[in-house]
Amino acid sequence: MKGVIFCCLAELVKEKMGVDKWRTILEKSGMSPSTNFLPTEDIADNVIAQTIQNTCTVLNFSVEQAADAFGDYWVNTYASKIYKVYFNGKNTAKELLLNMDSVHKTVTQSIPNAHPPRFDYKWKNDNTLVITYHSKRGMIDFLLGLIKAVGKHFKETLIVTKIDATQIEVVFP
Ligand code: HEM
Repeated sequence: MKGVIFCCLAELVKEKMGVDKWRTILEKSGMSPSTNFLPTEDIADNVIAQTIQNTCTVLNFSVEQAADAFGDYWVNTYASKIYKVYFNGKNTAKELLLNMDSVHKTVTQSIPNAHPPRFDYKWKNDNTLVITYHSKRGMIDFLLGLIKAVGKHFKETLIVTKIDATQIEVVFP
């Protein structure tokens, strides 16, 4: 997976929990405590998975808590700064979410062998969208946290429910 995800997690943990916690997480994950990756670098999925698992252990977070914290930081601090272009002209959670399949395809197109998550959208009724998640990484809990964070970004109350390992229902106001 693209190093930018790792960089964002590092910044979040260092800023909110302190640099020592991040160093512990890196060591527990078999890396030097001074490890840094470039945002554009490709990092093996198992390294990311291991780092997320150790983040939960060291911070005593459930996967859901980690996913919510990551989602909020990614959408409302990190990506809204460095990937501002994808937020420009989007005025509602609905508009941003419906563009996410195309954003992930675009952002990773210059990386050889990239496997970005892909999303299918199906409307159940005027306000209820079912998003189907396609990725071998099985990060549906992170998808949930990210969608909730998009609601917060636009100050909208979304009802976000995990249906199963590949589907999430979003009810818009
Ligand atoms: C506009 C801001 C965003 C940008 C630029 C962006 C970009 C990225 C990038 C570069 C990756 C790594 C993909 C790879 O290496 O294959 C990623 C992962 C991911 N993104 Fe986003 N993303 C954004 C917002 C979101 C939002 C709002 C969601 C949820 C609706 C989301 C869902 C995910 C998930 C679940 C992953 C984990 C990888 C996987 O499941 O396979 N992203 N994103």
